[in-house]
Amino acid sequence: MSSDTSKFHKSKKSAAVLKHALIDSYAGPFIGKTGKWSTDHRVAFIDGYAGPGRYDDDAEGSGAMLIRHAQKHVSTPRTVELHFVEEKDEFAAKLREVVAKEGDGLKITVTDGDVSHHLPRLLKLCEGIPLFVYLDPCGLVIPLEEVASIFDRPSGYGAPATEALINLTAHIRRFAGHLTSDKPIEASLKRMDAVCGGDWWRAVWLEKYPNNQASEDDKTAAEEAVVAGYAEKLRERAGGAGTWVIDVRPRADLKPLYYLVFATRHIDGMLAFGESASLGLQEWRKYHAKVAAEGTIFEENDAWLKDWKAQEELLKKQWVDTLAARLTTELAKGEAFRIIDRAEEILGDDLVGVVRTLHLRAAINKVRDEGKTTTQTVRVKDMLTLTITPA
Ligand SMILES: C[S@@+](CC[C@H](N)C(=O)[O-])C[C@H]1O[C@@H](n2cnc3c(N)ncnc32)[C@H](O)[C@@H]1O
Repeated sequence: MSSDTSKFHKSKKSAAVLKHALIDSYAGPFIGKTGKWSTDHRVAFIDGYAGPGRYDDDAEGSGAMLIRHAQKHVSTPRTVELHFVEEKDEFAAKLREVVAKEGDGLKITVTDGDVSHHLPRLLKLCEGIPLFVYLDPCGLVIPLEEVASIFDRPSGYGAPATEALINLTAHIRRFAGHLTSDKPIEASLKRMDAVCGGDWWRAVWLEKYPNNQASEDDKTAAEEAVVAGYAEKLRERAGGAGTWVIDVRPRADLKPLYYLVFATRHIDGMLAFGESASLGLQEWRKYHAKVAAEGTIFEENDAWLKDWKAQEELLKKQWVDTLAARLTTELAKGEAFRIIDRAEEILGDDLVGVVRTLHLRAAINKVRDEGKTTTQTVRVKDMLTLTITPA
């Protein structure tokens, strides 16, 4: 195992903040919603690249985090089952310690070895119950055919939920570099072919980044196009509601560190994930504000926190104003509509997964205060499926 992997687990890297915030805010709704009607209220998670569960500084990794969520349900009718796979002996041993200490009363398995090898057996163990699979490698993920096999389960009305969150690392650019290299290594290209489920990605990449004279922006565009193609392939295979891609950048003007691809068959999954994405991004911004303040006077007395909260208020106002303007444009067409059916017009690429219920509620209320709609939001939980009627 590379030393990179060992370094990763000493303390939480900034890159991990967003994915953990996402899982932390999504695990609860997933357990709550899917476990309501499932057989014996069972719900399962497979964490295929589990890591040690906790970092050396004791911060939660995905293992400890999932255990904490499962523990919340020990005295409720829900039963949360956790299946971890970890290839590195040292991390698997540490994970077992975490399970022994924190997993009392839970059904947990820890498997040493390669997730490729163990996934089929674990999928069998989770037959008939809702399942969330988290695949978070340090390098390239297992081949698309294997990822897609997660969705070889019954779908449609009454079938238990099947969802996956995959970390497609920005290693893609390293592998794709062989396409425009003087000395390409065919084995690396073949490895990417497997990850992407065919060589389609080569043409997609070269269309955006035809040669080494192209810019860094072109390279990012090529990467994004390949990730979008990957998500499309997974969506086809999942045969359901859709996929959601989040590019994780340290700052808006920097290139992505990694891409998270979420796939679900249920519209409820998409809606709940949107809320989690928004909350995750908020945590991510908070983390970066804190890091930026380190070693400055803003660190004292948590001055950065006040500053960050003020910035968040500003962002909220901007988003609500933008949403209200878009709602006004739609309302001017004279017909009632639901935001979920006008996602592109109202949320657009810029606000999807960024805003959540609270912003949409504030925007609808603003538009109503301006006399453009009669729609009330009091006691309404879901703004996306609320019918908004012109005044
Ligand atoms: C990015 S870390 C996981 C972090 C963890 N999921 C979290 O969110 O806290 C990736 C882990 O996958 C393990 N790993 C790498 N290849 C693997 C494979 N083929 N099967 C199972 N585990 C693997 C590595 O040893 C490493 O601990």
